[in-house]
Amino acid sequence: MSIENQHAETWKHLNKHLPEWLEESKKYTEDGNVAAYIPELASAPKDVLGICIMDAAGNTAKSGDHEYRFTLQSISKVFTLILALIDRGEEVVFSKVGMEPTGDDFNSMLKLELVEPGIPFNPLINAGAIAISSLIAGSSPDEQTNRILHFFREVADNGTLDINQDVHKSESDTAHRNRSLAYFLKDNGVLHHDVEDVLEVYFSHCSVEVGCADLARMALVLAHNGFDPIRNQRLIPRRFVQIAKTFMFTCGMYNASGEFAMNVGLPAKSGVSGGILTMVPGRYGIGVVGPALNNKGNSTAGVHLLGKLSQEFDWSLF
Ligand code: DON
Repeated sequence: MSIENQHAETWKHLNKHLPEWLEESKKYTEDGNVAAYIPELASAPKDVLGICIMDAAGNTAKSGDHEYRFTLQSISKVFTLILALIDRGEEVVFSKVGMEPTGDDFNSMLKLELVEPGIPFNPLINAGAIAISSLIAGSSPDEQTNRILHFFREVADNGTLDINQDVHKSESDTAHRNRSLAYFLKDNGVLHHDVEDVLEVYFSHCSVEVGCADLARMALVLAHNGFDPIRNQRLIPRRFVQIAKTFMFTCGMYNASGEFAMNVGLPAKSGVSGGILTMVPGRYGIGVVGPALNNKGNSTAGVHLLGKLSQEFDWSLF
């Protein structure tokens, strides 16, 4: 069978069975809890599960609550990392954050004090992402935030993406831990800007509202190494996507990244509002949402559904 025919068969099989696989995974929403440390996220419906898979021609396979809207949260960190690499280059970025997984919770500050030189272990934990926010070009938090929004809209091919102001306010009002992380970073010489200014940029990019199709569209660009196969245009240098995908693989699901690599085997990034952005390299962009989370901060049902798909289609990179 030719490669094209194989792809057509896979796509047909996917569209046919996606609803039943989603239904099967939905029961895992009961095992998780909606994030409550950001009060505005606590009212999310626990039983939501949606998915959108997009191929290189822009065809989509969608199922469940794929139209449900949610905020990017930590998924935004992949794209601010890429933007910081574009704005400052590798040398500057890696003078502020490391390249290693932590094995600790996403909001941990443990290693900042324990391990010299006191820079965050990687750009996907909160401390690392706060350091990255400070590197985005712009002379004020507003300018930096606008630059980020513009970049997210470009990659998602969706000019309407915007900040959910209620989530932004709720996060800012209750971010005692992130504030303490940021002040610690300032003391360690990692942040040069005013701490509140940096946090304003960080809260803003975490609060950008999307749907599963936006995640799938953004992931599609990463799946094609920074080239947008739909608009036929390079959006991101290949090297920066390679860096981002490596971090997604090793740290994207936090201290469950090893388990996810074992069971799904794809680069991915989760967020506490329940989103997961992942991809089949060279093929599909995938966006999933399921707000009920496990104790590592990843969507219980979302991870299960991705495991099922990966098994069914042999998507693991290993
Ligand atoms: O800073 C925070 O805690 C949130 N804005 C983002 C954390 C997050 O999404 C962790 N993901 N699983």
